[in-house]
Amino acid sequence: METEIVSVDNDMDNSISYQRAVDMLKNGGVVAFPTETVYGLGALATDEAAVQRIFEAKGRPSDNPLIVHIGNQEDVEKYAEDIPENASKLMDAFWPGPLTLVFHKRPGVIAENVTPGFGTVGLRMPDHPVALTLLRTLDGPLAAPSANRSGKPSPTEAAHVMTDLNGRIPLIVDGGKTGVGVESTVLDMTANPPEILRPGGVTREMIEDVIGPVRAESKSASVTDEVAPRAPGMKYMHYAPESPLFVIQPDESVIREAVMQLKSEGKRVAVIGPDDFDIKEADWYFPVGPLHDNGAMAGNLYGAIRQCDSTDADLILAAATDSEGVGTAVMNRLLKAADGKRYNGY
Ligand code: TXA
Ligand code: MG
Repeated sequence: METEIVSVDNDMDNSISYQRAVDMLKNGGVVAFPTETVYGLGALATDEAAVQRIFEAKGRPSDNPLIVHIGNQEDVEKYAEDIPENASKLMDAFWPGPLTLVFHKRPGVIAENVTPGFGTVGLRMPDHPVALTLLRTLDGPLAAPSANRSGKPSPTEAAHVMTDLNGRIPLIVDGGKTGVGVESTVLDMTANPPEILRPGGVTREMIEDVIGPVRAESKSASVTDEVAPRAPGMKYMHYAPESPLFVIQPDESVIREAVMQLKSEGKRVAVIGPDDFDIKEADWYFPVGPLHDNGAMAGNLYGAIRQCDSTDADLILAAATDSEGVGTAVMNRLLKAADGKRYNGY
């Protein structure tokens, strides 16, 4: 299969490109498209055979549930039931946006393999003009995980999707680099109080300002599980860079000393860190934005990890950040990529 890229990232009339994508989706095909968080790999969520193609293209274990994307808030009622009042408040406050809400599933509408064995469904309305135009032209729900091969970081550019899925999917809709850069917050509204299963662009503080206290995943679970699954014994593989990654204190001289120590042991070292640091001793330095700018770090982190993968570094050091704003989500993803490893116990 040849993978085609159509660009809609300009002011031209793109209706023909959207129509192509919609026709493919209606015929059971999969299409990669940008959202405000990361690129998604979409299929019509009511079409079981189409959804199956997502798992095949990604090489994804089929017991990990997919998020269903919708183009209008009213559509929630079509796919979910028992929607609590708090959820309506959150949708009014944060949709479209990087917040996935898990509800009880309305039976018989969404294909079984979207949320295999779960009585729930995760819904979100993405805040991206391309995703919204696609969803509204399609006039149907899109099941869409991140558009990476299983085990790779989520794609934040069409080129990342191409690297992972070239020859495995028919079409990539290119809308440029995504904004947020880490995946949506997943909030389980069937729990009482609601529980954050995955931190993301909408922070705990933002949610609590609207509906009061919620539960957040424990620190240990955040390292070992993709998301705390609602069934025992289920653990999903998360991505890991090609070389071991260690989280390190965001301090220029600490990082420089670590690099020099590792180099003296004959290792080649890649560093992911703020723009402000100047660490010439590193074999590769991938800047992810100004120091303490967690938004910039979220936007650039996955791209930087992919750049590390294209080097022949023996080891990656990635500077930590604080938990301000999207920082909690950034550290959650960084510690997953590190499999919990911290340099010198930091
Ligand atoms: O930002 C995002 O959420 C991106 C874009 C494409 O929308 N999508 C994304 O999908 O990250 P994916 O499949 O890579 O991650 C979805 C996460 C998984 O960890 C899954 O376990 C959880 O959401 N999830 C989905 N439905 C769920 C449900 N019904 N109950 C519990 N967790 C659910
Ligand atoms: Mg993913």
